[in-house]
Amino acid sequence: MNKTNRKTTIVKINRSQPDRTVIARAAALLRNRGLVAFPTETVYGLGANALDAGAVKKIFLAKQRPADNPLIVHIGFKKETGLYARNLPAAAKKLIKEFWPGPLTLILKKTGLIPDIVTCGLDTVALRMPCNPIALSLIRRAGVPVAAPSANRSGRPSPTSAQDVIEDLYGRIDFVLDGGQTQVGIESTVLDLSGNIPVILRPGKISYEQLKSVLGPVLQPARITKSGAPKSPGMKYRHYAPRARLIIVQGKEIDVMHWINRQITRTRNKTGVMTTIREHRYNGARIKYIGSTFSRIGKNLFRSLRELDREGVRIIYAESIPERGYGAAIMNRLRKAAGFKIVKV
Ligand code: TXA
Ligand code: MG
Repeated sequence: MNKTNRKTTIVKINRSQPDRTVIARAAALLRNRGLVAFPTETVYGLGANALDAGAVKKIFLAKQRPADNPLIVHIGFKKETGLYARNLPAAAKKLIKEFWPGPLTLILKKTGLIPDIVTCGLDTVALRMPCNPIALSLIRRAGVPVAAPSANRSGRPSPTSAQDVIEDLYGRIDFVLDGGQTQVGIESTVLDLSGNIPVILRPGKISYEQLKSVLGPVLQPARITKSGAPKSPGMKYRHYAPRARLIIVQGKEIDVMHWINRQITRTRNKTGVMTTIREHRYNGARIKYIGSTFSRIGKNLFRSLRELDREGVRIIYAESIPERGYGAAIMNRLRKAAGFKIVKV
C-alpha cells in the first residue's frame, strides 16, 4: 500500500442483491489489512478493520486525513454495540431501536477493544449501523467492525458514486465496490450521547425534530461559523470544497435569480449555478437543477459540485434553501463547501 502506483480493483455490485463472491473477496481484503471503499446509504465509505491499528493507519494515509479527526466504526448487528461501547444510556437504546440500521451515528463511551488510532485518543467512539445492503453484507461477512470515513481525499466533497471515489483515491486503496449512486447523498447525523444532554455534532438526514420526538431535549448545533469552536474534531477542517469558488446566494427567489444573472454577464469565468427552482433561467452558465424537495437536493448536492468541477467551471453560485428539518443539514454542508461565503441580496 505504500507504493502509489499500485492498482485499485473496481467491481460493480447490485445493491438489492449483492453478489456473494464479490462480497467475500472484499471481506477477505478487510480481514487482511486492506482498504475497501463501499457504498452506504449516505456516501461511500473507505473501510478498514477497526480492530487493527495498522489497517486503520492506512486510511489516514490514503485520505491524507488529519491525525486528530476520529473515525466512525460501522457494525453489522445492533447487539455488537455493547462490545465497543460501555454505560449505554437509555437514549441510545431508544435511538438504536428507532433509527438503526440507518444514517445516525452515536457517540458513546468506548471499551478497550477499540484502538486509540480510531478515536484519536478520545474516550468515546462513534458507532453506526448502515442500512445499505452492500455495506451490511460486507461488514457481516468480514466479521469485524469496519472503521470508515467518507471515501474522499480530505477536504473534497464527499463521494456519492464509485467514480467520485476513483477520482480521489485510485491507486491508493485496494478495492472499490461500485454499487451505484448513494441514496441520501450527505453524511449521517452525528449525535453525542456521552454527556448529560444529547448534542447534535453534525446534522444529517435524521433531523433535530426527529431526534427530539424520540428523546425529548436535544441540543442543536450552534449554527456553525468560521470561528465557532468545534465540538466534533472533524468540524474544524476545510470541508466538502469543490475546486471552483462557491458562493451561496440568499434572498427572495426573483432577486436571487436576477443577481446571479448579473454576475454571469459580468464575469469571463466559466460559471455554474445550482438551482432548486426549475423555472429559473441562467443564460451562459452551466445549470444544475438539483431538485425541489430536501431529499432530492441532499442526494444531488455533492454530486453536482463534483460534476461542475469536472465540467471545468471556475465559479459556482448556489441558491440558498430553507433551514428547517433536513434543510438545516443541507445548508450546513453547503456553507462549509462555500467556505462560508454567503451573499444576501
Ligand atoms: O454517513 C457517514 O457518516 C459516512 C459513511 C461512510 O458512514 N461517514 C463519514 O465519516 O462521514 P467521516 O469520517 O467523514 O466523518 C465522521 C465525523 C467526523 O466529523 C468526526 O470528527 C466525527 O464523526 N467523530 C468521529 N468519532 C468521534 C468522536 N469520538 N467524538 C466526536 N466526533 C467524532
Ligand atoms: Mg468526511
